[in-house]
Amino acid sequence: MTVAVVPGSFDPPTLGHVDVIARAVEVFDRVLIAVVANPSKKPLFSSAERTRMLEEICADWENTDIDAFEGLLVHFAEAKNADVIVKGLRAVSDFEYELQMAQMNNHLTGVQTVFLPTSAEHAYLSSSLVKEVGRFGGSLDGLVSPVVAAALKERFQ
Ligand code: PNS
Repeated sequence: MTVAVVPGSFDPPTLGHVDVIARAVEVFDRVLIAVVANPSKKPLFSSAERTRMLEEICADWENTDIDAFEGLLVHFAEAKNADVIVKGLRAVSDFEYELQMAQMNNHLTGVQTVFLPTSAEHAYLSSSLVKEVGRFGGSLDGLVSPVVAAALKERFQ
């Protein structure tokens, strides 16, 4: 059984994240979505809130689990006996930083990273842009799941 970790800040989860999770679900036996509890930027949503949103979004996928972690991703992956880390690539601009992280993670514990391309339709999506759109009252249709749209509206009321 191949277990894949899909890590991220998910602050908040976008339809781009959902796209990557959906692709991972097709390829791997189990998909463990790992919410970083302490992202470098101060999060809009707590790790419990981000975890809850992902639980709702992924409820129909039986082979997914959601967990929050602190510290190094490689230590979390080891503790969960994960086989690979999965990262989504939206555009070439993502590649340089993602490659650097994949190489560092491989250096630390030998873990492999698998890159999955997002659909072109989601290439421009990011959590920070979604927060900006939500903050200033723009339409969130086609950007996030209904549960996330509701949470953003409530947060920015
Ligand atoms: O959604 P993001 O913010 O692009 O996700 C980045 C994330 C959480 C995957 C990355 O920052 C991470 O792995 N953080 C945990 C700390 C860590 O392991 N740092 C070393 C990476 S080489």
